[in-house]
Amino acid sequence: ETPVIAVHPSRRVSKINPNIYAGFTEHMGRCIYGGIYDPGNPLSDENGFRKDVLGALKELDIPVVRYPGGNFCATYHWLDGVGPKDQRPSRPELAWLGTETNEFGTDEFMKWCEELGTEPYLCFNFGTGTLDEALAWVEYCNGTGNTYYANMRRKNGREEPYNVKYWALGNEVWGPWQVEQMTKEAYAHRAVQWAKALKLLDPSLILILCGQDGTATWDYYTLNQCLLPAHSALSTSAVPLIDMHSIHLYTSSNEHLPNATAPLAAERAIEITSSLIDLARIENKVPPSQPRPTICFDEWNVWDPIRAEGSLGAEESYTLSDALAVAVWLNVFVRKSRDLGMACIAQSVNVISPLMTTPEGIVKQTTWWPLYLFSRFMRGWTVSAHVSCGTYEGETAPVWLRSAVQTPWLDVSASVGEDGFANLAVVNIHEEKSFETKVEGVSGQVEVFTVTGEGVAATNMKGKEEVAIAESKWDGQGLYAFPKLSITLMRWKAE
Ligand code: AHR
Repeated sequence: ETPVIAVHPSRRVSKINPNIYAGFTEHMGRCIYGGIYDPGNPLSDENGFRKDVLGALKELDIPVVRYPGGNFCATYHWLDGVGPKDQRPSRPELAWLGTETNEFGTDEFMKWCEELGTEPYLCFNFGTGTLDEALAWVEYCNGTGNTYYANMRRKNGREEPYNVKYWALGNEVWGPWQVEQMTKEAYAHRAVQWAKALKLLDPSLILILCGQDGTATWDYYTLNQCLLPAHSALSTSAVPLIDMHSIHLYTSSNEHLPNATAPLAAERAIEITSSLIDLARIENKVPPSQPRPTICFDEWNVWDPIRAEGSLGAEESYTLSDALAVAVWLNVFVRKSRDLGMACIAQSVNVISPLMTTPEGIVKQTTWWPLYLFSRFMRGWTVSAHVSCGTYEGETAPVWLRSAVQTPWLDVSASVGEDGFANLAVVNIHEEKSFETKVEGVSGQVEVFTVTGEGVAATNMKGKEEVAIAESKWDGQGLYAFPKLSITLMRWKAE
């Protein structure tokens, strides 16, 4: 039977929040130091920011960047990282067991965000941090009055507030590796109390609850305890305590097909989290007028710390198989746009990243290309797309995936942008077969971008760009052959 992809550009499913193309920079390995910040390097500007890194990241049009971690947050005291650099303390760092010089802190990050044209998303210290410290950080960043921390910001050279909107109530607080790991009961209690105080200080903050992978008892319990009707202490019932629920997932497998299909687990995770959000609102009798929290998938990627080895097991050398997996991840986000308020690739530079630096320049890894194509084109609205092409029936990672979702050879999502262009993303995960496919819904000239390479192990980390992007045109007539092991993005003016 001929494979068919049917796209319906006029059938809009949901709005795509541009924040699904968010980034993440943590004080971990070479992400900050030697990644985005490299003073003294001829490639850096007067602030110490690597210009080649900024230039590359600008191509991705990244709307938000999460900072300063990650696990790093659990012992980070933001006051150590502001003020004159020669007076900032160096401290032992307990998440990644190095020394934190604090040379790069809040003001440097804010300046870097402004250079990049992106919004900051900060994460509170829920390990050794206090509520006082959290309130002070918000005041430092956003305060406009004649108050202590707002004045400290002014003294440090920044008159205008930074207006940081997005704040996370801790990171992976459930994890045994976390300094001051908490029980779900202790966390939920603290999250509500902190959220109340933070919203009293600034009701416009968007507060993000710390979830697990969206399917855990932790997620069920914390949502249930924290998604409450607007707190009576807050001025208006339109201000909920919690605005988003964060979840994290990394996928990988040594085998190509389990690797490429593993991101479909994220689709299930999003569906389950979405139901838990509804359930918590029903059980807590939250009025429908109160905005429904969205999911903040604030760490996602392909990552195998054992494979990546050295440098904290974080400097991945990505393959073509991984690029296909990242494209499947992004298809998931487009298909599930209704539920997603944000998704941050972990991370943006050097650490588990599509972009690597050396002292002499940058390398765009295989996974850069799907990220680039999606971030550039898959915006606007998710539209309905249906595929029939046969499914992969073998092993999956995680194993339960096989019984939970279909794993088609062609993984597909579609969108229509504000510019009236329809976009279709097709990932052919098959190692041998190209699929001659009828593409229903295309019209006129079709622009085509193809990412592929010689075999699943192809990589850009051996001094040669083995996986790159090619542009072509198609007249939209007859069948289109989606090559084996490829990512194809098609665009046409929708009628
Ligand atoms: O992104 C790397 C690490 O993975 C983060 O610090 C942590 O939150 C997660 O476990």
